[in-house]
Amino acid sequence: MNLLPLLLGLTAQSNEPIQVTIDTRQTTVAVNPAMYGIFFEEINQAGEGGLYGELLRTRGMEDGDATKLPTGWQAVGEAGRISLDATSVPNEGRPHSLRIERVGAGQIAAVNEGFWGVPLKNGARYRLTMWVRGDAEIDATLEGAGGQRLGNAVIPKSGNEWRRIERTITASGDDNKAKLVLTPKQLGTVWVGYASLMPLDTWRGRSNGFRKDLAEHVSALKPGFVRFPGGCFIEGQVLGQAFDWKKSIGPVEARRPMPRSFWGYPTSNGLGYHEYLQWCEDLGSRALFVANCGMSHSEIAPTDKMDRYVQDALDAIEYANGPATSKWGALRAKNGHAKPFNLRYIQIGNENGGPNYDVRYAMMAKAIKARYPEIQLVANVWDGVPQSYPLEIIDEHYYSNPAFFWRNANRYDAYDRKGPQIYVGEYAVTRGSGQGNLDAALSEAAFMAGMERNADVVRMASYAPLFVNVNNRQWNPNAVVFDNTRSYGTPSYWVQWIYSNHRPDRILKHEVRAPLPQLEPVAGRVGLQTWRTQAEFRDIEVEADGRKLFSADQVSGDRLEILRGEWTTANGAIRQSSDEENRQALLRGVEIPRSQRATLRLKARKISGAEGFIIMMGLEPGREFQWNLGGWNNTVHAFQRDGERVGRGVPGQIETGRWYDIRIEREGNVSRAYLDGKLVEELREAGTPNFTAVAGVDEKANEIVIKAVNGAGTARTVQFDFTGGRVGSTARGLVMTGNRLDAENSLSNPDRIRPRPFSLNGVSGRLSQTLPPYSVTVLRIPRR
Ligand code: AHR
Repeated sequence: MNLLPLLLGLTAQSNEPIQVTIDTRQTTVAVNPAMYGIFFEEINQAGEGGLYGELLRTRGMEDGDATKLPTGWQAVGEAGRISLDATSVPNEGRPHSLRIERVGAGQIAAVNEGFWGVPLKNGARYRLTMWVRGDAEIDATLEGAGGQRLGNAVIPKSGNEWRRIERTITASGDDNKAKLVLTPKQLGTVWVGYASLMPLDTWRGRSNGFRKDLAEHVSALKPGFVRFPGGCFIEGQVLGQAFDWKKSIGPVEARRPMPRSFWGYPTSNGLGYHEYLQWCEDLGSRALFVANCGMSHSEIAPTDKMDRYVQDALDAIEYANGPATSKWGALRAKNGHAKPFNLRYIQIGNENGGPNYDVRYAMMAKAIKARYPEIQLVANVWDGVPQSYPLEIIDEHYYSNPAFFWRNANRYDAYDRKGPQIYVGEYAVTRGSGQGNLDAALSEAAFMAGMERNADVVRMASYAPLFVNVNNRQWNPNAVVFDNTRSYGTPSYWVQWIYSNHRPDRILKHEVRAPLPQLEPVAGRVGLQTWRTQAEFRDIEVEADGRKLFSADQVSGDRLEILRGEWTTANGAIRQSSDEENRQALLRGVEIPRSQRATLRLKARKISGAEGFIIMMGLEPGREFQWNLGGWNNTVHAFQRDGERVGRGVPGQIETGRWYDIRIEREGNVSRAYLDGKLVEELREAGTPNFTAVAGVDEKANEIVIKAVNGAGTARTVQFDFTGGRVGSTARGLVMTGNRLDAENSLSNPDRIRPRPFSLNGVSGRLSQTLPPYSVTVLRIPRR
């Protein structure tokens, strides 16, 4: 009997047959036990003000200048002066201290509100550590939002010498918006070179520890590996800003903080390389460390200055895995871990590419492999993969809309089995995803089904980014959302959880038959785009279902909505004069309604640059349809959806200085592109798929593990046929569903969308199972 509809109170069903046939005995490929991992980057306050337990902001006074106190510090009161001072604790690697001078009675205090409030729990204990100097005692009070004292310590005078003072404070009340208030008790001057407040109750009780709820979200994912520390964070805008692991180890108070990391905020380096390796060990995960390869977003180290980057990567491996007798292994032992860690992968650079990357990849790869042949290397795929040194694993990144992920659910079916292994190191629906909605999660689940089915090619995958503090959302969406006390997993987080916790050991031979939906008729806005090219456009006409929506004589500046680039209009022509990538302008007030037939005509002329023109026809929120003429460095004309090539494309070039007649027709599911009156490509498309499934076997439990994704807004009955051997009659499952694609979890409703268990019986050689609308279902069926 099928209990699911009853459980969910669902009746609506589509009558389209969907069939999944599974051979319960015949396996195809093995799934890497470490397939599903996590991507940790210091972005969105993921570590600082997030996972890392520190409650005070800028504890080492790392940023600020003569005119500005460090981020998070404020001066309160009139009875003195507070400034940033060049005096600093000797040998501690931090250039500043806070100078607090009391000149009279009354209030003068340095206040730190932590990361949008210091959260205190009644009865909980906190370790206050300070480096101070000066001729007054300091009253260090934890003050609640209403000014009440919730704990305090008195820091003694230390005279001219810097002194380290540590006190444990027990909070006498709950408050999420508390602050630390430092008040000199007597007239005189004190310097504070460091002020840290760590909760004693951290994940696994570690002293330089992690916030419990956030660490538990991660451990529930049972990550196979942890990639660290990014992301762009590893690159930096300039090389001086790149993460330097050597500054992130050793006693925390002596670590050199980063005044302004890639994502714009100061970081203490408290969650450093050693903590990362320890975290992997605690999680039972493999470590995948990303090493800078001498390339930042705007600077590249000359090849004769690459020694440092090569050496840093070699030393990182020795620190992690070397014997305690080696130079860096000894330091690891001194830092509390005599046994080697389990560093398995080094990724050489992040999103670096082109010939500069090629040569640097080869330099680093050669040196690493010569010394540590067991370390597996991950290369970037930007602008093509490196050619000068053999590849082991390559890191693909995908950020797009839900349709992209559905369309690409089968992408790895066609990958070369003899090519390098694939690590999908970053992927997420970033368009049409709200702040992490069900639509995004379902389409990621569909994509993951394809990765899992092709687990011989895709060996590892990590959703990105992992964390966001709601007070500094720099990237959207993310898997785990938090403020200073609460947190939740987005639906995408739960999809990661499903795949990781229900990863089969091997894929079973299976076939999925589901009808493809109709392609939606064209609709949306019309626009022009260039890519490293200057160009002119004129005589634009747009027609839909026989109605003229725009005509040549309507071109004027106010009809252009400029998204990016230098766009001007003169004498009926539109000109784009920037040489940058991705310059876009839309025609204002032109919106194709859902039409069976639409035509766009225009003339275009290339003025200079690398490519030709990109014409956008049918631009809806989060979705694009384009004809790209002279794309891929002026070699191909091709249709694109959401930035990705669809159809075959046709070799072609756009000449400079010549006016071209362009026409795009869209009729039902057919798009035709004409250049100078000649048909260049006819594209026939099906609709975006909205059902997929993957089946494998959990060998230890001897269970068939099926994951099925229904992206349709109707319940759908799926016929599962089991061949090759008998299956048990009872099964257990999980279903994650919601009644709307835009449904999200939130801090106040954290569990709205999450997997819920169910069980069913009456399974035999067949199972007819109704899957709710918008759902991901896991079925675990015993083999007999
Ligand atoms: O995941 C966020 C960012 O996206 C990463 O820093 C970068 O690698 C990618 O572009």
